[in-house]
Order: sequence, then structure tokens, then C-alpha cells
Amino acid sequence: MSLLIKGGTVVFGGARRQTDVLVEGERIVKVEPSLHANVSTVIDAEGKFVLPGAVDVHTHMQLPVSGSVSADDFFTGTRAAAFGGVTTILDFATQSKGESLMETAAKRRSEAEGKVCIDYGLHLGITDLTDQTMVEIPLMIDQGCPSFKLFMAYPALALNDGELYAAIKTASEAGGMAGVHAENMHLIGRFVRTLLSEGKTAPRYHEISRPAFVEAEAVSRAILLASETKSNLYFFHLSSARGLAEIRKARERGLPVYAETCPQYLLLTRDKYKEPDLIAARYVISPPLRGEEDQEALWSGLADGSLQVVGSDHCPFRTEQKKVGMASFDRIPNGGPGVETLLPLLLSEGVGKGRLTIERLVEITSTEPAKLFGLYPKKGAVMAGSDADLVIIDPDKEVTLSAETLHMNVDYTLYEGYVLKGYPETTVRRGKVICSDGQFFGAAGDGRFIPRNKMLQH
Ligand code: URP
Ligand code: ZN
Repeated sequence: MSLLIKGGTVVFGGARRQTDVLVEGERIVKVEPSLHANVSTVIDAEGKFVLPGAVDVHTHMQLPVSGSVSADDFFTGTRAAAFGGVTTILDFATQSKGESLMETAAKRRSEAEGKVCIDYGLHLGITDLTDQTMVEIPLMIDQGCPSFKLFMAYPALALNDGELYAAIKTASEAGGMAGVHAENMHLIGRFVRTLLSEGKTAPRYHEISRPAFVEAEAVSRAILLASETKSNLYFFHLSSARGLAEIRKARERGLPVYAETCPQYLLLTRDKYKEPDLIAARYVISPPLRGEEDQEALWSGLADGSLQVVGSDHCPFRTEQKKVGMASFDRIPNGGPGVETLLPLLLSEGVGKGRLTIERLVEITSTEPAKLFGLYPKKGAVMAGSDADLVIIDPDKEVTLSAETLHMNVDYTLYEGYVLKGYPETTVRRGKVICSDGQFFGAAGDGRFIPRNKMLQH
């Protein structure tokens, strides 16, 4: 199979240029103007942008949470991802108590194989830091899983500070990177108990139970623990200006600290919790939505490089699943849909509204996550030798977001009625057109587990 994409504006490496892209088999072989080749497929991309496929390093397909399982499985979730221009995801394999990391990874891979239609990798969630787990951290890095998730927020999964210190250090020394969900669970537990005892059980109290200082405290503590040994450290789903201030300080000191935010923290505010309870429950995500001042800080953090990545934190629950927590907000499964809307929202609300350049959009959705998580230059690049994971954007296409037309397995979107300008038109995964003009040509099981390299130091 061969493919020639002609005349598009390729955006990659902080620049844009009008050029052709020649693909043979699964790889890009040439990126040059005026190419002629005898190929099976030619795509005219004149007037369109050609970007490296998005690399969403934060998804939770078919994840058990609070008695529910997130509503997208590895097939429906990766198909929806492809419609949104995402060609690689990093999902999570979370250790059960007493389980080896090897078993954890194998179990999760068996859930994904045969279902994924784009490529994927796994962060390993460490919840039981035994001596054996410590030994396994470098082994798992060597086996292509160089990133780890450590919890500070959920008591059933969290590590204590000594364990956080040890896991962060061991991962970094072996060429990997720990990432944390940074919220202080002790403060949250106290606030939840107080609110419930006062009869404040509605979904809107979720946000009150997790104020921004709860995030800032955990961010600064994790940085302190990592900084002692100058270890790599990544923050998943940063939501607040106060959290960002801690990240900035660490980076100004030259520490290898990196952070991601998500579209929901850039575009939605805590006003959503004023909606009727069943609607407000859709926005029960952790960390919760914040204020406009936080949004402004996060946008400028992305533009100035303090934040390196935008991930979706895709973890959808249908309305009937959210309903189980109507009597008590702490029982609502946390999470929302977003893998399909990640790139389109950033294109329209970010680039379209002058908050980001398209070059920066490519960095934060593709190149930077690929570099940070050991996928570059296989993924995240439009250059000879890289996987032909590409997304062609029609900058003039207008789409009104609606749960009815999106492909995620959930009965709402957090962005119903948003009118977007600029949208993915064609998605190519390893040389194969898997989405084009709203049609899906991929297949369950065509995606691959991608063993990742050790971390590139920035
Ligand atoms: O509310 C969220 N973010 N749910 C997904 C799991 C997590 O904490 O990232
Ligand atoms: Zn998450």
C-alpha cells in the first residue's frame, strides 16, 4: 500500500510548509514538494493542514470506577479517537494488591488486544509498592512501559509519601518517569465528611470538597519528593492556577517536571455545577472544574511552555451510570468523555481564537507527548522514517458538537452545541486511511501495543 498526500500545509517541528507526503506501507518515506510516485491512493490536501496524529497520553477505556465501568471499551473508544484525529493513546494498567506489574500489564493488554483500532501503550498504575514491585519497575521500563501512575487522591490506590519518594526515584533512575494524580486525599476526605454531615449531598458539592489548594499542596509535595533526587515527574490533568504556579517554580529551578492539562479545564468552569443535579453530575470529574482565572493561567501556561501536554482524561460514564451517585456526590463515578473532541476543541477554541498557534497545537497534542513518553520519532512527527500517523484538517469545516453525531459510547458531550471551525477530515494510522469524511475504515484489533523507549531528557 502506498499513499501520496499532495499540496497540504504540513505542520511539524515548530514550522509549517506546503509540501507533499509520500507513504509506503506503514511509514513516511518522503516529505518534499512536488512529489510524483506510482501509488495506490492520492489525497489532495490543498488548502488543508497535515498534522502528525494526536497522541493522547491520558485515556481510561473500560475502567472500573465506583461499581461502574467506563462506557467506552477499547474498540468504541479508539474508533472515536480516530474520528477526532488521535492515532495513539496511552491508557492505564492499574495494579491490584498483591499483583506483579508484569501480571497487571499482561491483563490489561489482553483487554485491549483484538479491540484497539489505533496504536496504544500503557502507563502502569502502582498501588502496592512491595519489594517485588520495586524490582519490577526497571524491568517494566525495559519491556516498553517506562511510565508509571502514582495516586495521591484515592485512598484505596494511594501510596504514602515514603513510597511516592521511592517509586519516583526508582523510575527516574531507570530511565522512566512517574506521573501523579495530585490531590491531597486527607483534605478531600475531611471536606467530604463535613459536607455530607451537613446534608450537602448534591453533585455540586463535589467541587467544594476539592478546592484548588488541595491540588497545589499535592503538586508542591510531589515536586519536593522528586526534587531531592532531581527525578523526572509528570502531572496528569492539572486544573488550577495555583497548581501551575508550583510547576513553574520547579521548572525555573531546572527540575525535570512536566505537566498536562485537559480541554475541560481550559474551556469549562465551575458554573456547570449549578445545573440540575443529573446534568451537574456529568461534570463530576477529578480534579473538578475551576474558575476563569484558572483557565487563563492554563492557556498561558500552554503558550509559554510551562505546560507541555494536553490529554483528554477520557473516562466516560453514561447518564444512568452517573445516576447511582445522586443521593451522595462521593458515589458518582468520576470522569467524562473527551478523546474524540480533544483535537477539534483545541483547533477551534485554541488556534481559532488566537490562544495558540497551530505549531504549538501540534507540539502539545502530538510531538511533546510522544517525546516525553518514549514514542518519538516513531510517533509525533511528520518526517521520513516515522510511522505514517497523520491527520488532515479542513480549516473551514464547521461542526456543531452533539452527542448524536460524535462516536463516543455516551449519551452526552460536555460541549453540546459548541460550533467548531476546523475539523479532522481524514485520519491515517500507519499508512491506512481509517477515517475519512465521517466514515470509518479501520478494524478492531488493527491497533498495536507500542513498546516505548526510555525517557528523552529535555
Ligand atoms: O475524574 C476523573 N479524572 N476520572 C478518571 C480517573 C482519574 O482520576 O484520572
Ligand atoms: Zn485520568
